[in-house]
Amino acid sequence: MKVLVVGGGVIGCATAYELAKAGCAVTLFERAVPGAEASGAAAGILAPLGESSGSPFERLAIASWRLYPQVAEELRGRTGIDVEYVSRGTIYPLLTTEAVRAAGARVARLQSSVFGIEAWDAADLREHEPALARTVRGAMFVRGDHWVNNQRLVVAYAQAAVAAGVALHSGVAVTRVAIEAGRVRGVVADGDLLDTDAVLLATGAWTAQLAGTFGARLPVEPRRGQMLALTHVPPVVTHAIHAEDVYLVPRPSGELLVGATVERVGFKREVTAQGIGGLLAAALALVPGLGGLSISRTWFGFRPWAPDGMPILGPWPGVEGLYVATAHYRNGILLAPITARLMSECMTGHRPSPELKAFLPDRFLRP
Ligand code: FAD
Ligand code: GLY
Repeated sequence: MKVLVVGGGVIGCATAYELAKAGCAVTLFERAVPGAEASGAAAGILAPLGESSGSPFERLAIASWRLYPQVAEELRGRTGIDVEYVSRGTIYPLLTTEAVRAAGARVARLQSSVFGIEAWDAADLREHEPALARTVRGAMFVRGDHWVNNQRLVVAYAQAAVAAGVALHSGVAVTRVAIEAGRVRGVVADGDLLDTDAVLLATGAWTAQLAGTFGARLPVEPRRGQMLALTHVPPVVTHAIHAEDVYLVPRPSGELLVGATVERVGFKREVTAQGIGGLLAAALALVPGLGGLSISRTWFGFRPWAPDGMPILGPWPGVEGLYVATAHYRNGILLAPITARLMSECMTGHRPSPELKAFLPDRFLRP
């Protein structure tokens, strides 16, 4: 089967790779380079536990989280790239004794052993992460929160896809999706119409624009995230730390990531004094010892967001051969392995897995 994948973010590259492994002849179009947008801009946190425990989203997230150790090994085996998979755990700081007490009760109710969830008091914090400000009274510690270097991850997926036979066209934008008599015919790229059996739209925050080329309205919008990195010398923290207004991610490469804003500003390509200033102020209030580190870089990315905050995954209703995988919002890195697997299964003739049911595009589209 011939498949055209549009978009070389983590979702497009991972799915192209799985489709090639399943025997498809895959062509991948990326208008810039793999990982040029949100997938390169992310922090790489793999935190599968959400607020609504047991929800379809949490089940999907946990399923993807479980795949990660194997994915990291497979990508290393096929490409030699180390995606810097770290499993040291995240500290969620708590500022009041009341919150620390509530956390203790919550841990007792949760399946804490699977994800290594612990309630820490001030003494635990001083022992495990002494650089945290004294205003922090305790924490939830989730050992099961892991992280990867997402830039390396996308490149590894892209290289593995090419090695598996995917024809990757970087620097080529798709300008139109061609549909005839209720079936996808192909895409227009570089002015040429390329015929195919199936098309996957994996164009992140730009998917509404591409859907517009065949007259469809998909409510996917960008949510800008600004971030910065500090040169982590001397190292100040050893765990990821995730507070309300800021998170810190220490990378094996020696950077400490400080993220991230969530802004509804369209596709404005800029970092702002307010965005970076707010992150730095929150980071220094949490860990005053970061003040002497130098800023190595700042950047932004556009998270693909849908109105219910959930991914959009599956066959496009009413158009045979057309598929979409987008709107992963704040969790596209975490969800890439399971997205790739489920999309590849459903595009190669299997029925959409029950795991996809809550995420089908039908909730926003009418045939
Ligand atoms: P993208 O990576 O945006 O890829 C879409 C690609 O399509 C782009 O490369 C673009 O150039 C290409 N494209 C668009 N239109 C066309 C066209 N017409 N023709 C050809 N190519 C086209 N997720 C996590 O799981 N953990 C995190 O810690 C995390 N942190 C984040 C921090 C920030 C600051 C941001 C911005 C996001 C973060 N995310 C995180 C979310 C995650 O980055 C996204 O959900 C994910 O990268 C989306 O992947 P994607 O492939 O759908 O989109
Ligand atoms: N998941 C981290 C972010 O979206 O900023």
